[in-house]
Amino acid sequence: MKQQTTLVEVENLVIKFPVRGGDRKKKFITPVDYVSLEIKKGEVLALVGESGSGKTTIGRALVRLLKPTEGNIIVDGKNVNTIKGKDLMNYRKVAQMIFQDPFGSLNPVKSIESHLKFPLKKHQGFKGLALDQKITDLLLQVGLTPVNEIRKKHPHELSGGQRQRLAIARALAVNPQFIVADEPTSMLDVSIRAGILQLMNELKRDLGLSYLYITHDLASARYFGDRIMVLYGGKVMEIADSKALIKNPINPYTKLLLSATPGSDIKVNLKDMNNEAPDLSEGRKGCPFVHRCPLATDICKETMPDLVEQKENHFVACHHAEDSIEKMIFN
Ligand SMILES: Nc1ncnc2c1ncn2[C@@H]1O[C@H](COP(=O)(O)OP(=O)(O)O)[C@@H](O)[C@H]1O
Ligand SMILES: [Mg+2]
Repeated sequence: MKQQTTLVEVENLVIKFPVRGGDRKKKFITPVDYVSLEIKKGEVLALVGESGSGKTTIGRALVRLLKPTEGNIIVDGKNVNTIKGKDLMNYRKVAQMIFQDPFGSLNPVKSIESHLKFPLKKHQGFKGLALDQKITDLLLQVGLTPVNEIRKKHPHELSGGQRQRLAIARALAVNPQFIVADEPTSMLDVSIRAGILQLMNELKRDLGLSYLYITHDLASARYFGDRIMVLYGGKVMEIADSKALIKNPINPYTKLLLSATPGSDIKVNLKDMNNEAPDLSEGRKGCPFVHRCPLATDICKETMPDLVEQKENHFVACHHAEDSIEKMIFN
């Protein structure tokens, strides 16, 4: 498919959270630190990185479940970072989020059909027979059959995969253009993960949906993502077309992630402090991976490298990117 028009544009997004410090002074962490990205219409951007790197926080900001501290989020030409009230309600029709645990967003006392009725009535004005037909259509679209049985059930009577399908149907009920899918398969049995990814892929194809697909699994990022963005310590480390990134990773952190996937030729021997979590404190300096990176030098402690286009459409934030290219083994 041709992917021309930009749907989502994020410029210098910063998100801070207050944390309790020992003294009285208010302290903050910055789990998202000047992140910029772009998602085209009908495109899937996969966001990968280990736990705590800021993926969910970015996702929540993009659907405006949380308000950014700084930066711009422009969706379909409109800046949505400071909208509230009616504008925010309208934005809920454009952007929806699917969570890791579908149970968390479902109401245990409501039937499956009433989960869909509410958004269809409220956001789309469906009623009567048309409403009934639309519920049937949505359930069929996400593969929840036999429809007449499923409609009357309650969330606890569905399997994990079926619950995630319901969460997807509910997101679709507002007819969105953009979906943030936050590790949508990580709580599901391995055997049913592929089916959920396949469904999301079909919806991309049939409805032209754009996605931010959050995952820590590079194999699924490669399968579903058109491009992959690697995040660490709230910073973008690398961004490229999925196949190029998996085939020729450049940032040492991306190589570390890949070295953990079965069949990889890449070996990364980390420094002794290899379990250290990235520093998220406000005003931190340098590259977040500096403590673990085998290529780190003094400059990496002092300055965060810019994202530089190392190959066509392949951007890397690393002072030693040139050294790192083609290098498979790090000691
Ligand atoms: N509401 C919040 N208040 C304070 N800290 C938060 C909040 N949400 C997330 N964090 C912190 O921000 C960091 C990034 O979290 P998150 O975005 O959930 O990462 P990921 O999804 O990549 O695992 C973590 O250190 C987390 O504890
Ligand atoms: Mg998360």
